[in-house]
This record gives sequence, C-alpha cells and structure tokens, in this order.
Amino acid sequence: MRCLVTGAKGMLGVELVDFLRRQREDVVGWDLPEHDVTDIEKTINGIHKVGPDVIFHLAAWTDVDACEGDIAKATRVNFQGAWAVALGAEELRCSLVHISTDYVFDGRATRPYRENDPTGPLSVYGRTKLLGEQAVIRSCRRHFVARTSWMFGRGGRNFVDTIRLKSSEQSRIEVVTDQVGSPTWARDLCRPLWELGGSAHYGIYHLTNSGQCSWFELACEIVRLTGVACEVVPTDTAAIARPAPRPAYSVLDNRSFKKRFGKVLRPWQEALRSYLDGTPPAKTGR
Ligand SMILES: NC(=O)c1ccc[n+]([C@@H]2O[C@H](COP(=O)([O-])OP(=O)(O)OC[C@H]3O[C@@H](n4cnc5c(N)ncnc54)[C@H](OP(=O)(O)O)[C@@H]3O)[C@@H](O)[C@H]2O)c1
Repeated sequence: MRCLVTGAKGMLGVELVDFLRRQREDVVGWDLPEHDVTDIEKTINGIHKVGPDVIFHLAAWTDVDACEGDIAKATRVNFQGAWAVALGAEELRCSLVHISTDYVFDGRATRPYRENDPTGPLSVYGRTKLLGEQAVIRSCRRHFVARTSWMFGRGGRNFVDTIRLKSSEQSRIEVVTDQVGSPTWARDLCRPLWELGGSAHYGIYHLTNSGQCSWFELACEIVRLTGVACEVVPTDTAAIARPAPRPAYSVLDNRSFKKRFGKVLRPWQEALRSYLDGTPPAKTGR
C-alpha cells in the first residue's frame, strides 16, 4: 500500500512510520513545518500528488491544557485539519484512518465506553477532536475513526516519561486516584491501525491496551518496575488545578475491533514493562 501519515514526527507518528516501513509499505510522512494540514487547498492538492491508498491522520494539537486557552487554533488544527484530509481522501477515493481520543466522552459512565455511546466532551481539545471525527465521517466514505487513550511512547511528552523522570529526582510524588482510563503504548497501536487501513470494515473503533487503572495506579506500577525509591502519594483532581477538565472515567470498550479482527491489545501492564525495558529514560516529560 502507499501510505500517507500526517503528524509523522509525533509520538505515534514515529512508531507508525517505522512499523509501516518494516511491513514494506511505501510511506510518505507529513508534519510541520513543511505540511500544515490546516491549509485546505494545499492539503487536498498534496494528497493528489502523493496518491495514497490509505491515509493515517494523526496530526493534531494535543496539548490539552493549551487548547483551553486558544479555541481558534485548536479548532483549526483538530477540526479543519481533519476535514481537509477527509476531503482529499474522498476525492481520491482512498481510505482514511483518523485517530481520535477518549476525551470525546464526559467520563460519567459506569462501564467502558462503546463505540456508539453518546459523546460529551468536557474540554476544548475533546470538543475539537469530536468535530474532527464528525467531519471525517461526513466527508469521507472510506473512513475509520480509531479512538485511543492515555498514550505513551518514545520521544513523546507523556505521563509515563514524566513519572519516570520525577520519581528519579524526588522522594515523593502526588498523583490523582480519581481519573481512570486505559494506558496504551503507541507501538502496540501500529499493527491494529495498519490492519484497519488495509480492510474495508469502515467505522468507529476503540483501540487501547487491555485493562484499566487510575493515574495513581499507573504511577505506582512505573515506580515498582523501575525500582526507584520514591513514595507515590494519592491525591485527587480537585487538589490539582489544571486548565482543562478531564473525564473521570474514560475506559474504552474495544468490542468492535475484537468482533471484526478477533483480537484485543495486550494488558497495559505488559505493554508498560516492554516499553520501560526497551526505552532509556527521557530528559523531559509531561
Ligand atoms: N497522546 C495521547 O495520550 C493521545 C490519546 C488519545 C488520542 N491521541 C491522538 O493520537 C494522535 C497522535 O497523538 P500523539 O500523542 O502522537 O501527538 P503528538 O506527539 O503531539 O504528535 C502530533 C504531531 O502532529 C503535528 N502537528 C500539529 N499541528 C499540525 C498541523 N497543523 N499540520 C501538520 N502537523 C501538525 C505535531 O507537530 P508539533 O509538535 O510541531 O505541534 C506533532 O508532530 C493525535 O490525533 C491525538 O489527538 C493521543
């Protein structure tokens, strides 16, 4: 397949480009500053020039707190960018795998969210990502919307690297217990995304590592696996002021992928162990 990956320099993009090349796919990667997906005309023309069989649209403004302060930019990148890519994909009649997020939900569920559950984003990031999903679904027939959550991976600013760094520098860290989700290793997403893109089973899919935990439990597991002497102290969301509200519960039920492809991603604990075993600690984190 000829594959176009937007957001190719990002945390998931780097893994996906590597993975697709290892599968001997023909890959073109787009990212800033050369390819700004918010430029609708250039994006559509660019897609015509590349002539992909499948587009993996990862590019997004993912700084959840910063999005809260700049609705116009968040809308431009997360909605208009997705719309431009979808229009190009439709003109070329190629498939589009659009990556979305658990933050499209309001977090009040008492069981894992299914693909067709009502959405209700709490933050600007979540709202603009939802607009992106809707634009993709409306504008491109051969679409996949793949929602994932709590991603970690090399080179990215992510919770796992932040805790790894902080726990090596501090004897005590406070982490919230009242947000629950499914941590997901970017590398584990690559094969399922590739399988989706090569199929004709269009629709919405939830794709995360299996299992669930709170950020506190995730931090405890990171500290346990790295063996550092750091106390993880429970706290709650109310005690930590952040610009963007987060869903309290955003576990995603992966039933559609399981039904279509007969498998699920491995448990998050195994993915975390593999990631920590193979990746040197980052110098910065989020
Ligand atoms: N990280 C998570 O926990 C998580 C969870 C659920 C879903 N997702 C979704 O998964 C996808 C990949 O996330 P990620 O964590 O890999 O994000 P990331 O590391 O921030 O990568 C996104 C990439 O897109 C680029 N980009 C931003 N605006 C662009 C534009 N206008 N045109 C072209 N490229 C642009 C970014 O460049 P700059 O760095 O220069 O801005 C960055 O290289 C995103 O769609 C995100 O919404 C992420």
